[in-house]
Amino acid sequence: MVSPFDVLGVDVDADDDEIRRAYRERIKQVHPDQGGSLEEFQLVRRAYSQLTEDDRNGDRDEDLASVDLREEDAGMRATRVEFLDYEVVDDYGWSLTDPDLFEKAAEADLGETDYGRLLVEPTETLLEAAEGRGFTWPFSCRGGACANCAVYLAAGELSQPANTILPEELAERGFRLSCNGYPASDRLQIVFNLKTLPELDDLMLPPGPFRRAQSD
Ligand code: FES
Repeated sequence: MVSPFDVLGVDVDADDDEIRRAYRERIKQVHPDQGGSLEEFQLVRRAYSQLTEDDRNGDRDEDLASVDLREEDAGMRATRVEFLDYEVVDDYGWSLTDPDLFEKAAEADLGETDYGRLLVEPTETLLEAAEGRGFTWPFSCRGGACANCAVYLAAGELSQPANTILPEELAERGFRLSCNGYPASDRLQIVFNLKTLPELDDLMLPPGPFRRAQSD
């Protein structure tokens, strides 16, 4: 039997910080970009989801210790993503860390490419899902070597493979790469198109097709 605690390698009485730290370590180890299998990656995602998302409103259910994730027909669900273009945040004078940011966006009558929702399948990165639904989000290298595809994570979890361009401090603040980031929670709120954010300036490469597409 493999419980969510076993998968993350934490005790049943681990607190939220311990679980988050363990998850980040495990997801790096099993990430498909680092040679891990998709099955193992999904298992770690599922374990983290069970220990956090399914338990937001109360104490962690000790019965989770007897859940066998490998036996369970958990079937990975698509992740619901609410997205917002940073240009809108800037134009309206909003802040990335505003707790009401997405409520404001929902009430602002924005265009469908500026603000909206999309579903990300378990086998898709966030950028792949956006492109698959017809959106032209920014990117350049698609290999973890630039911040062109960076997004700001306002809620939820997006995997962060090892050896990426983003320093720990930016990752701690919620910045992630969309080209190799797989959703690790049932819901995400993200701000994309961060190219004008000063702290990412030095991490940008010449743009990929996004900016060319915009200027065509
Ligand atoms: S496009 Fe360069 S890291 Fe994602």
